[in-house]
Amino acid sequence: MPGWIQFVRQSLSHPQQVGAICASSRSMGWTMTDAIGIGDAKNIVELGPGDGAFTEVILERMSPDAHLMAVEINPEFSARLRGRFPQIVVKNGCVSELSKMLEEEQMGAPEVVVSALPWSVFQEELQDKLLSAVVAAMAVGGRFSTIAYVSGLFLPPARKFRRKLSQHFETVECSPIQWKNLPPAITYRCRKGE
Ligand SMILES: C[S@@+](CC[C@H](N)C(=O)[O-])C[C@H]1O[C@@H](n2cnc3c(N)ncnc32)[C@H](O)[C@@H]1O
Repeated sequence: MPGWIQFVRQSLSHPQQVGAICASSRSMGWTMTDAIGIGDAKNIVELGPGDGAFTEVILERMSPDAHLMAVEINPEFSARLRGRFPQIVVKNGCVSELSKMLEEEQMGAPEVVVSALPWSVFQEELQDKLLSAVVAAMAVGGRFSTIAYVSGLFLPPARKFRRKLSQHFETVECSPIQWKNLPPAITYRCRKGE
């Protein structure tokens, strides 16, 4: 089945998990992986890879000796990712289990985490649980990049989430808008402190 059909099917059957009607663009993948030191990282984690729109770009930009683990809750996306990218570790499960997954794979604390999780459709309690799990698992000084659609950026839930990022990370910066994405989006680039 073509990837885009699978994506639309999964987004209709699991709207509270997928949170988007179509996959992100390759240009968005470049914005997501800019200015986060991806070429220097030894351990990289991707959260919510879906059918791999960003995975492809991460693989192109990371060092050949780096390790990439993708954490995806949807079993159909996970199966597709394993077929497309046999060279990476795909964990089918929730990001809340990130530390356990890293331990199982004997992988070090990630210096880079790229997230396409649909924060805006999550309840606040789940946002807190997942953000805490991610920050706890990351290396000190590690970089976290996450997507936010421009259409909702100035609404109260998005502003609240932006404040939440500042509570969890030492620095939070905003990328330029990537217009070549549906819908256009920015990424927040965050750095974990001591
Ligand atoms: C907006 S889609 C992004 C897909 C792809 N990265 C892209 O940008 O086209 C969000 C993805 O996050 C996954 N997801 C949602 N909640 C999750 C969780 N708690 N743990 C792991 N993956 C999750 C969904 O199944 C979906 O694949």
